[in-house]
Amino acid sequence: MAALFRPPWSYPFLFMLIDRRTLLKSWQALAAAVAGLSAIPAGLFFAVGARSKGTATAGGSADWIDLGPAGDVGEGPWKARRFRREIEDRWKKTVVDESVYLRKQGEAIEAVSALCTHTGCLVQRVSNGFGCPCHKSDFDEDGKPTSGPAPRPLDRLETKVEGGRLKLRFVKFRPGLTTAEPMAS
Ligand code: FES
Repeated sequence: MAALFRPPWSYPFLFMLIDRRTLLKSWQALAAAVAGLSAIPAGLFFAVGARSKGTATAGGSADWIDLGPAGDVGEGPWKARRFRREIEDRWKKTVVDESVYLRKQGEAIEAVSALCTHTGCLVQRVSNGFGCPCHKSDFDEDGKPTSGPAPRPLDRLETKVEGGRLKLRFVKFRPGLTTAEPMAS
């Protein structure tokens, strides 16, 4: 009977058990901390990414680019317009050159992307529309493909005039598809 009332420190296995439990809890706490830390970069990715100014997100919005006085676009055939825009991604800002074609039809100012819908080369004006030097796609005056591998017409872009200035909603679309699907950047 006396053995049953020995002090706890006389039972070494009891301390081993406690130590193992404590150790187990420590490992669980450590694993939880590691899991929490590993979630931080993902959280930052989405938090910062949500503030980035890409050109567009699928089904989302795009930047309106100020192209200057609307009166600069005269009646007549398509004219190339080059502009710069700033892309702010998660890590840095980049300035990129872009190109579109503009024409005025009555009061409306139309814009079409200068990127070929085949693989994204820059199209050029030819006598009766547009031509792509990369794989010889041709487009008529309205941007519809007439020959070559381009799978869809040149992409139309939205414009508006505000305070006398022409604004372009610039979006890039995935090349190689029969339908226009916005790219993330
Ligand atoms: S990229 Fe224009 S035809 Fe291929």
